Amino acid sequence: MLRRTHHRFFRKKLLHRITTQRRNFSEDVKESPKVVFSGIQPTGIPHLGNYLGAIKQWVDLQKEENEIYFSIVDLHALTIPHEEKICEKVLSMVATLLACGIDPKRSIVFKQSEIKEHVMLSWLLSCIVQQNTLKNMIQWKEKSKSTRNAANLGLFTYPVLQCADILLYKATHVPVGNDQTQHLELCQDIARKFNNRFGTFFPEPVTLIDENCTKILSLRDPFSKMSKSQGHELSRINLDDSDDQIWNKIKKAVTDNTSAVTYDPIRRPGVANLIQIHSSMTDLTVNEICSRSEEEGLDTGQYKMAVAEAVIDHIRPIRAEYEKLVGDREHLETVLSEGTTKAKETAQKNWNELRSMVGLT
Ligand code: AMP
Ligand code: TRP
Repeated sequence: MLRRTHHRFFRKKLLHRITTQRRNFSEDVKESPKVVFSGIQPTGIPHLGNYLGAIKQWVDLQKEENEIYFSIVDLHALTIPHEEKICEKVLSMVATLLACGIDPKRSIVFKQSEIKEHVMLSWLLSCIVQQNTLKNMIQWKEKSKSTRNAANLGLFTYPVLQCADILLYKATHVPVGNDQTQHLELCQDIARKFNNRFGTFFPEPVTLIDENCTKILSLRDPFSKMSKSQGHELSRINLDDSDDQIWNKIKKAVTDNTSAVTYDPIRRPGVANLIQIHSSMTDLTVNEICSRSEEEGLDTGQYKMAVAEAVIDHIRPIRAEYEKLVGDREHLETVLSEGTTKAKETAQKNWNELRSMVGLT
């Protein structure tokens, strides 16, 4: 059980550290509101990597006057086998998003497979993108290597469907973790190609990445990322983990033989990962954490206690809210169907214009 420690100084209010890639959008979108789009697969309870890399940014983006779409991408989830029905996992993902602070009054939350225009646009875009480009996508290469070239066609065209998700809503900003950078580059490329060929329609969406949480690493193997599907149970902290489970996982996190708390992601990735997680859960910078740990004379073992405390304090209210919401099926279904109705309106309007632009009508 976690003991309360004197590391109170580690706790402060959250800071928003959203950064951008490719363009300084804070300057160029002041005049026009953003259309934000992101997606998450309904593949079980999100872990800390999903939360810090993506969901937390989504919550923060609601504080501005943006048009926001969050899609639970169940068609993407079909690319891998599932024991449980995917629609059940969709509902628990809705509960998780709401528990994390997604507000259905501010954001449109919907299920991808309810809107057939995603698939229509995906086909259209697949007639623009070259096969060779898809063959060179990192995630495809990894998947086909790990399945000895037996990966399914859905995995191959996965990024095209992702581009269709984004472009269907003419999204201008896409908040994701940095493992999605290449998919977003493809999306910018496809938007440009379409505009050149058929006339300007799509914005080239800006990728939003939280510079502090680009990649949360596995707690068991700090050379690979924290992942839902790979690695030991102890390698990830899930948003529904109990206080004791969180404490136990952080206590057992792989670090190294040096006892000082210093930030060196190359030589000390395990410790750096803990500092990164800690910094994201408080408003302390990496430097503040290191210098305060030094002042307190903490070794990495003692420091883990401070990290666990910060994570537990942050996750506890999310878990409590999730447990409350997940039993209320009716509410979750209402949120989804209201979101789907709103998203469908935009999707159909844009698709009708697109059909005419490419000569289908
Ligand atoms: P997925 O669970 O793969 O659908 O990912 C959902 C979102 O979480 C995406 O935006 C990913 O980039 C992000 N994400 C997944 N794993 C990590 C991680 N270990 N660190 C940071 N972001 C992550
Ligand atoms: N490919 C994303 C992932 O694995 C999920 C996703 C699907 C997505 N469509 C999207 C993310 C559109 C952002 C925008 O995490």
